[in-house]
Amino acid sequence: DTDALLGAAAILAGARRVVVFTGAGISAESGVPTFRDDLTGLWALYEAEELATPEAFHRDPDLVWGWYEWRRNRVRRAEPNAGHFATAEIEAMVPGSVVVTQNVDDLHERAGSPAPLHLHGSLFAPRCIGAGAHPFTGPPADPAADGDPNPEADPEADGRRVRPPRCVECGMLVRPGVVWFGEVLPATAWTAANEAAANCDVLLTVGTSGVVYPAAELPRIALRTGATVIQVNPAPTALDVVSTINLRGAAAEVLPALVAGAR
Ligand code: APR
Repeated sequence: DTDALLGAAAILAGARRVVVFTGAGISAESGVPTFRDDLTGLWALYEAEELATPEAFHRDPDLVWGWYEWRRNRVRRAEPNAGHFATAEIEAMVPGSVVVTQNVDDLHERAGSPAPLHLHGSLFAPRCIGAGAHPFTGPPADPAADGDPNPEADPEADGRRVRPPRCVECGMLVRPGVVWFGEVLPATAWTAANEAAANCDVLLTVGTSGVVYPAAELPRIALRTGATVIQVNPAPTALDVVSTINLRGAAAEVLPALVAGAR
């Protein structure tokens, strides 16, 4: 409601250190599917938790690599939305602000955020499974996966198995540069995110269901150090209990209104 929005805008206007913590919901309006409410086609047969694991990749690399190529192509064709741009405006308005994202897309960067902290890696940083974890800079595994629909692909499948490429340095399989369930978060990003959450005046949590740890710990860390936690989400989430202010709405609507009110 507008009182909550005005209250949140006033708090944001007075903040010196802001953390914007985002999840898949901020990219939903860019047409990038979230994890838990709109997996389609072939991917609807699986839970994210079943595909985003080292075991799944070991068992069926083509299925897992195909899913990430599908996601990567969706992101390539997507544009940042008003929520991403408003986030970059907050960073411009409040010098002491940090963007921490669970997303593996590059939409924050393309909206002007200089250095978002990626807690779960990136679709654009594939690397090999060899000891050297060599970055893979080659072409996408399957030329057809590069946005042009593969003529013989089953249109119903909405995604296909795609053979992962091999590392040019050591010949091992290449994997997506994302953090899978059961894997550790990148230490630098996680440490910086904790530091930011423990020292901010405001933590905005946007478009995350708050069910995946340790990322979901950040709003609680901010609240414990006296920050105001403002949630932006059209639906209830596990973070309702740690949110000082709950703005029920879509990121692409609420964030620009927040920024306008805080100017
Ligand atoms: N604006 C804001 N929030 C939205 C919007 C929108 N337009 N549309 C949907 N949402 C919300 C949903 O209500 C939901 O709470 O976005 C949230 C998406 O939740 P998830 O799909 O669980 O995504 P996320 O919380 O980012 O998942 C966390 O889980 O699968 C792993 O590693 C993966 O980073 C991911 C992590």
